[in-house]
Amino acid sequence: TSPVTLPQLMQARRDGRRLTMLTCYDAGFARAIDAAGVDTVLVGDSLGMVVQGHGSTLPVTVADIEYHVSCVARGLQHALLLADMPFQSDATQAAALDAATRFLRAGAAMVKIEGAGFKLDVIRALVEREIPVCAHLGLTPQSVLRLGGYRVQGRDEEAAARMLDDARAVEAAGASMLVLECVPSPLAARITHALTIPTIGIGAGPGCDGQVLVLHDMLGLRHGRRPRFVKDFLADGGSIQGAIEAFVREVRDGTFPAAEHGYA
Ligand code: KIV
Ligand code: NA
Repeated sequence: TSPVTLPQLMQARRDGRRLTMLTCYDAGFARAIDAAGVDTVLVGDSLGMVVQGHGSTLPVTVADIEYHVSCVARGLQHALLLADMPFQSDATQAAALDAATRFLRAGAAMVKIEGAGFKLDVIRALVEREIPVCAHLGLTPQSVLRLGGYRVQGRDEEAAARMLDDARAVEAAGASMLVLECVPSPLAARITHALTIPTIGIGAGPGCDGQVLVLHDMLGLRHGRRPRFVKDFLADGGSIQGAIEAFVREVRDGTFPAAEHGYA
């Protein structure tokens, strides 16, 4: 189980091999995820909600992500580790370079940045300095104050066209992957078709190159209403290891996500 590399992820996209990603926050789960052969692991700022108990991802700090990256990295031998850039850590190029460097030193191999706009310059600055970047469009939870809640994005034609433009722009800026969150399935498929980098969907339908879920969600551990894109893999998997293996199997064979998990 040699480590997954960035060129291998690009090759998977070219070969039409679906990619798997789960979020993770500690070494114990990292070992279970690694044993199941998951391709990529994300220390998401979702940790603010599922680990720290906050109502949004905004309170998460660079030190929080750095700590959890170091924990997860100790549990991984195979999966490529991504670190989320928390709220405002990517507000300037200098801040982003500092935070991302800390995450790579802690064991991450890529960082994830929400949005386009001025973030395009941030993405370019990191990539030019040898820090691989995953972009994130659609529902970007760090925009919750402006959005007023968590809901599907890109529903009307104008918003869809803007998202497609942003997707092309993050790829042109040097992003190596793109997470699409809560995007109508046809739009996510259109964006995937328009790009050469792998797209990883969450609530974005089966037309993406890969799928990501929050670990707690896919294990049925959820506080509040379950979004439609979440599937409880523990219910059928029988054990935590079985649930993670079922996720990998169902993403690879195209069983997950089903139509019921997406937005038309
Ligand atoms: O923070 C997170 O867990 C994420 C994934 C849902 C993509 O950004
Ligand atoms: Na996140």
